[in-house]
Amino acid sequence: MTLKKKLRIAILASGGGTNLQSIIDLSQKGLLDAHICLVLSNNPEAGALQRAQRAGINTACIDHRVFASREEFDQTVVTTLKDAGAELIVLAGFMRIISEIFLDAFPQRIINIHPALLPSFPGLHVQRKAIEYGAKFTGCTVHFVDSGVDTGPIIAQAVVPICPDDSEETLAARILQQEHQIYPQAIQWIAEGRVRIEGRRVYIDKSRCATSALINPALNK
Ligand code: GRF
Repeated sequence: MTLKKKLRIAILASGGGTNLQSIIDLSQKGLLDAHICLVLSNNPEAGALQRAQRAGINTACIDHRVFASREEFDQTVVTTLKDAGAELIVLAGFMRIISEIFLDAFPQRIINIHPALLPSFPGLHVQRKAIEYGAKFTGCTVHFVDSGVDTGPIIAQAVVPICPDDSEETLAARILQQEHQIYPQAIQWIAEGRVRIEGRRVYIDKSRCATSALINPALNK
């Protein structure tokens, strides 16, 4: 019997780490062809570090505040990720902008999840911005990271409705539920070698295209 080689992934998180948890959970169920070789944070207080430690995953904390420049911080992060043997970098609420040094070290091998339907609402506080704009739908986007902010080629998206009584918190929670579905799935597709980038477009071999449209508010019938 030959054992299938698992893709070595490093997960970078600055906060609570619910996306990290969804990836750990799938991996512990044996449903992910990826091995989490490292969880790295820039924030010593990140809940993500505790989640990783509870799961017996190696962690590293590199506090950006002790570095004189973004480049020096990124160089240390890159060295740590290379030492861990990471093949795919998974940003899961990592609140640092990625410099060219980082991008060049892992070309087309860094992915991110964003809590809006890109290209709408890039940047921060996007749940509040979607509500204030009056959008009827928002969602989340898994994408490759390029040199822009939330601009890289899109791998997968999930759509959620915005309800009239939504607060930023209720909407964020609804979006997070979908983040926890699509992020592990996107990692699995990459681990299976099914993801191909052509220009801005990303193709997933043998995937099914969702066919039903959504309307919000629902039609009168
Ligand atoms: C998520 O909303 C994600 O889309 C954004 O940062 C948040 C991280 O949440 N990039 P968590 O730490 O995974 O709970």
